[in-house]
Amino acid sequence: MSDARWLAGLEEQARRRLSPPVFDYVAMGARDGVTAAAAASSWRSWSLHPRVMRDVTTVDISTEVLGRRTAVPFGVAPTTLQRAVHPDGELAVARAVAAADGLMVVSSNAGTRFAELAATGVRWWVQCYLPADRRLAEPLLHRAVAAGADAVVLTVDTPVVGTKYPRDDGPVVWDVVDPEILRVNFDPGYDDAPGSAKALDLGAHDIEWLRSTTGLPVVVKGVLRPDDAVLAVDAGAAAVWVSNHGGRQLDRAVSTATVLADVVAAVAGRAQVYVDGGLSTGLDVVTALALGAAHTFVGRLLLFALVEGEPGVTRMLTELRAQTLDALRLCGARDVAETHGLVATTAPTSL
Ligand SMILES: Cc1cc2nc3c(=O)[nH]c(=O)nc-3n(C[C@H](O)[C@H](O)[C@H](O)COP(=O)(O)O)c2cc1C
Repeated sequence: MSDARWLAGLEEQARRRLSPPVFDYVAMGARDGVTAAAAASSWRSWSLHPRVMRDVTTVDISTEVLGRRTAVPFGVAPTTLQRAVHPDGELAVARAVAAADGLMVVSSNAGTRFAELAATGVRWWVQCYLPADRRLAEPLLHRAVAAGADAVVLTVDTPVVGTKYPRDDGPVVWDVVDPEILRVNFDPGYDDAPGSAKALDLGAHDIEWLRSTTGLPVVVKGVLRPDDAVLAVDAGAAAVWVSNHGGRQLDRAVSTATVLADVVAAVAGRAQVYVDGGLSTGLDVVTALALGAAHTFVGRLLLFALVEGEPGVTRMLTELRAQTLDALRLCGARDVAETHGLVATTAPTSL
């Protein structure tokens, strides 16, 4: 099977190979799944506007992310339960991403200890949610800093966890996963501590609090509006990450492909802008770059590839790299910067 076909068939393969509760947990969106379903087609509704007669013998798809080069313009978004998808979980991902000289964002809910991940040599950032009592977040953040995270990603789209309906009355993922692989970087008893529920009062001041607590640049993930992006940057965010959490939070939230260009325009170069949501091909990645993203991230595509362990993740990253390179050449772009603006101006019609 060609690598392109394999990549396109990853979700179906995961559906066959994962237990239904695990597959459903990964694949589903919140509520009616409207936002989750719209993500992929929103990228496809943009048209690329290529240049021709340009020498594309040498093409560089590396990007600079928070001052450091990464070899590819797509990284791994933070996702929980990687060890439920494959026993090697985050370690398999870290090894493959390290070999590809990419960037891995590690969920605060990860099932592998930060120090173990860092030992692979991968470049990684830690993602966090903040609890009502901010001080309870400090031990996990300090562990991440000690293990060498080089940025902290604050997820701001989750004051409450979006409701996801199980497919039927059968078991849900929490009934079938080993509790040993859940949230291993938290202090024992964290969930029972008063004030550990997710903060309902997140604000701009939390960005400065996180920056001073960790000493790391803060990336604000889950922004969909230009005014919120400006608020985050004014408050000191080093980057804004356009995301609707893979459609797992507010259903009917707008697609990231629809709002990306407006957020980039509002930020006006004062900070980097990243994006995720429904990206599964090199053409999707290049469309996001053309709309002004400095970097892109994949969530489910990574999890579906992880079904095959580290070789699966390596194959996914290699194929996505090849597709991205091809798309750049076909666009007449010799590097990521030259993709900017290569989109037709018609607004996308789907969500
Ligand atoms: C199974 C699963 C778990 C996730 N866990 C987290 C998480 O712990 N923290 C977070 O900020 N986002 C989380 N996300 C959202 C991803 O970081 C990302 O925004 C989203 O998956 C991108 O969309 P895509 O899956 O279509 O690529 C999760 C997504 C999935 C599918």
